Amino acid sequence: MKILLLGSSGMLGSDCKLVLEKNHEVLTPSSKEVDIIRWDTVIETLDQVSADVVINCAAFTDVDACQADEPWMRKVNVEGPRNLAQGCARFHAKFVHISSDYVFAGKKAMPQPYFEDDPPRPLSVYGKYKVESEVAVRDNSPNYIIVRTGWLYGLTGKNFVKSIISQAVQKRKKLEVVSDQYGSPTWTYRLALQIKKLIENDGRGTYHATSEGFCTPYEWAGAIVEKLDLKVKLEPSSMKNLQRAAPRPVNCVLENRNLKEQGLNIMRAWREDLDLFLEKYGSELIREAKGK
Ligand SMILES: NC(=O)c1ccc[n+]([C@@H]2O[C@H](COP(=O)([O-])OP(=O)(O)OC[C@H]3O[C@@H](n4cnc5c(N)ncnc54)[C@H](OP(=O)(O)O)[C@@H]3O)[C@@H](O)[C@H]2O)c1
Repeated sequence: MKILLLGSSGMLGSDCKLVLEKNHEVLTPSSKEVDIIRWDTVIETLDQVSADVVINCAAFTDVDACQADEPWMRKVNVEGPRNLAQGCARFHAKFVHISSDYVFAGKKAMPQPYFEDDPPRPLSVYGKYKVESEVAVRDNSPNYIIVRTGWLYGLTGKNFVKSIISQAVQKRKKLEVVSDQYGSPTWTYRLALQIKKLIENDGRGTYHATSEGFCTPYEWAGAIVEKLDLKVKLEPSSMKNLQRAAPRPVNCVLENRNLKEQGLNIMRAWREDLDLFLEKYGSELIREAKGK
């Protein structure tokens, strides 16, 4: 298949490139070459490349910054996906768009997960953009996949795993980590494999795709510290103590129901994938955190 991948320099996009290039022709223009907010550029590109599939990993992902609700933020997160969805409809390509657990309010009592057909009720502006992007995709593209995920980590860019390692390496003796929020840490490489599986099996509609099982950030940090034998003491803390601009859902647990019903779920237990990731890249990340 010929695949046009937007956002290939980002955390998920870089793993999608790595995974898809093995079996497909993948075009990866930079954000300078194809700015998704530019309708004319999007249409010209789709016309020229005749892609079978377009994957949108591009977004403005700073959740707290999005609370400012600047027009350009909405453009990237809502109008960009709408341009791509309309372009895909015009040139008969399948459109794959990435959405988030933040479309939900996270108020379900634990351990009740969110299903694909639960009504979205975003708490933050970023969550509202994601809901609007989903509507734009469904309204404009006859052949789409929306993948809702959350708590991503990987080798590229900033993420929770790297932040815990770098704080531990900087000899912080004590780290306070939130213990009253729940979600499923998800490795971008595994998610990329799941996206590949969906595309190759002509998946259609909305899918939740996160690791199996759930934990709190405190437990997640504990698993990182234990696996890498980092010398730091973790202390449980409450979400209320964090002075963050955007409100976060407490319950971020998504059930991969549609993937399972269609026999397509390849997501693994969060701890299994975290261990694999740290076995592969732990030493490299520690060296990186030490600035060596
Ligand atoms: N990170 C998470 O935990 C998480 C959780 C749930 C859902 N998601 C969703 O998953 C997707 C991927 O997230 P990520 O964390 O991998 O993102 P990321 O690392 O922040 O990367 C974002 C990518 O978007 C590109 N981009 C930004 N503005 C663009 C524009 N106007 N035109 C074209 N490209 C543009 C960036 O290119 P430049 O580097 O050139 O600017 C970069 O490649 C996003 O939709 C995000 O909302 C993420």
